Amino acid sequence: MERTVDYDGARVKLIDQRLLPAEFKLVYIDAVDDMAFAIKDMIVRGAPAIGVAAALGVVLGAKNSQATDKAALMADIDSACETLKNTRPTAVNLFWGIDRMRDVAAKTEGSVADIIEAMEAEGRAMLDADEAACRALGAHGAELLPDECVIMTICNAGALATVAYGTALGVIRAAAEAGKKVKVFSLETRPRLQGMKLTCYELMADGIDVTCVSDGMAGSVLRSKGVNAVVVGADRIAANGDTANKIGTYSLAVEAKYHNVPFYVAAPVSTIDFNLESGGLIPIEERAEEEMTALGGTRIAPEGLKVYNPAFDVTPAELITAIVTEKGVVKSPNAEKMAVLK
Ligand code: MRU
Repeated sequence: MERTVDYDGARVKLIDQRLLPAEFKLVYIDAVDDMAFAIKDMIVRGAPAIGVAAALGVVLGAKNSQATDKAALMADIDSACETLKNTRPTAVNLFWGIDRMRDVAAKTEGSVADIIEAMEAEGRAMLDADEAACRALGAHGAELLPDECVIMTICNAGALATVAYGTALGVIRAAAEAGKKVKVFSLETRPRLQGMKLTCYELMADGIDVTCVSDGMAGSVLRSKGVNAVVVGADRIAANGDTANKIGTYSLAVEAKYHNVPFYVAAPVSTIDFNLESGGLIPIEERAEEEMTALGGTRIAPEGLKVYNPAFDVTPAELITAIVTEKGVVKSPNAEKMAVLK
């Protein structure tokens, strides 16, 4: 499958995820404001994908700068960073990617051209590293799964949410590649339906057996369909292992606990925020009411209805069987065990 995010030396390529699965369209971004819009409007989405896309957005800011010395270039880079940070608050990869790219600029000595060259090299390295991290964590996660696995997942933590391969779906792909018999239940994931539109699309393209169920069916499917693992992605993991992910993940973790089904979080180390002690400190994005009150542009709710639409929730570490990263697996996560991933 085509990389979800890529860079051709002038423009950043994205797959327009708002249109899938009906239409597969590539979007080419060459300006900071357009990248900020792409992140906010969810042309590109998923924590690792927005982290790398935002970092490449900083590169575009530097390339479009008219500066002739480092001080002026850094001022333009700082303004690009500010614009890009002001898009989606929950996924820490966004801030990680932007800060990492700014650091490269700040540390590089030489001309404006030298600095931009170093930033572009960093962007390319980040693209490759994200894919490599997904493949590595996928392999670690696959080892945790039985030879015949029935997996439930939520939202889309797949190739479309990363540069390629995916985190939760990376684990599922690696299990299938290792010859395990894999069956997946994908929660449709209201209100934006990333589970049905994106996860099912990806898995079907790979020939992996997937069945879509509505979010409210999770408990009854866990009880009756032989699910033996839940695997989800993450937008931000606090230092103690508490994990923010798509709204509905917490309920799924509670239901998995009740049914004695192991609950795995799959994420690259770039999703861990060691500066936050626990999940209660993670900022949770609230999105527009229309995501809930309209379907395909048609209003389906009574006029004047009060709506609460947080995009994410926090699953406490005590409900998580293990956190799977490219650096290895942390079982029964807590602050002390998570620290080995620093
Ligand atoms: O609002 P989204 O679609 O960006 O939310 C995405 C998720 O919640 C994913 O599970 C998470 O970012 C991990 S992606 C590998």
